[in-house]
Amino acid sequence: MKDFKTILKENRAFAESTFEKLNKKTLQMAIRSREKLVDGVNENGLHKEVEPTWWTTGFFGGMCYMLYAYTKNEEYLKTGKAQERLMDAAFLCERELHHDVGFQWHILSGAGYTLTGDEDSRRRAFYAAATLFSRFVIDGKYIIAWPGQKEKDWTIIDSMMNIPLLYRTSELLGDDRFARVAKAHADTLIRTHVREDGSVAHIVEHDRETGDVICTYAGQGCAVGSSWSRGQAWGLYGFILSYIHTGEKRYLDTARRIADYFLSEVKDYGYLPRVDFRAPEDAPLYYDSTAGACAACGLIELAKALPEEEGGFYMDGAVRMLRAMEEKFVNYDTENDHLLDFGTVRYPIPGVYTPEQAKVHISIIYGDYFFTEAILKLLGSDFLPW
Ligand code: GLY
Repeated sequence: MKDFKTILKENRAFAESTFEKLNKKTLQMAIRSREKLVDGVNENGLHKEVEPTWWTTGFFGGMCYMLYAYTKNEEYLKTGKAQERLMDAAFLCERELHHDVGFQWHILSGAGYTLTGDEDSRRRAFYAAATLFSRFVIDGKYIIAWPGQKEKDWTIIDSMMNIPLLYRTSELLGDDRFARVAKAHADTLIRTHVREDGSVAHIVEHDRETGDVICTYAGQGCAVGSSWSRGQAWGLYGFILSYIHTGEKRYLDTARRIADYFLSEVKDYGYLPRVDFRAPEDAPLYYDSTAGACAACGLIELAKALPEEEGGFYMDGAVRMLRAMEEKFVNYDTENDHLLDFGTVRYPIPGVYTPEQAKVHISIIYGDYFFTEAILKLLGSDFLPW
């Protein structure tokens, strides 16, 4: 296997040509959707609006900020700032904010503060961090998911992408309390979510005193014990981010275990991610492009964290996935607002969710976000929004 730098060099032309087309499209989207908080698209392929509290609202502005970091085009900066302002209404919502505030404010206001030094951005990220911090269960040592589930303590693997907000807050404040909570949570999830073979559970119900597993749920996967691909990607990228923020080797090892498992599951499918790696063999083939895009980001960061020779395996996997997705899933038409097609919200369990209810093969903003992030990483961008 070639070392990761050689692989990067050999794929430079692919990354450059993909970026050129992607940037042309996202620039138009940044101008067209500046004053809208968005998640997916309507029947005309244009962004449709969502409420400021919705968990995906940080991705569009975050994507604009990371493109600003790379291109220095002020149109991206203007959109990032506008999106932050639109999100402020969420702080005054009727119910408490939920567990996904890192997805919302870390990559938006946290990134905005890093890029511009704007104190309003720093305050927004701090409020979000305080909310997440307040969800920590002291005895069980985990961050509880969802408001309204308080009679049952559930945690989800998605949370691994939210806790970088806590590491960053500790870095900014020079106070390690936030990072300690993040590490305690990550350590619990290694014990309760990551299985022996490197696959991960989506939802776990815990004993509040010990943190032990009471039971697991299918979550957005096809069954209890299954392997929902976006959850695998949240774990893969999330654990390598915990390693980047803390330097603790157990997080690197965990990310690597999940990565080995993920790559073994995509390689027989042309490096395209199915919605659930344990879906019944006779079921229709459902893809989730968002899982592939997020996993590619994790694989690239994992490759960079390892010695160059060892990292080659993971960089090779990331590039194969990105090339396969670029060919099959990407839409460069500048008249519409979706870059990546074939995103899927949840597995359509027969008799429970129709493919339409499960939102199978649609465009979702975080697919666009992670695909863009991965291509920027291939180009050598060292701006890490997480
Ligand atoms: N965090 C919810 C999802 O991945 O769909």
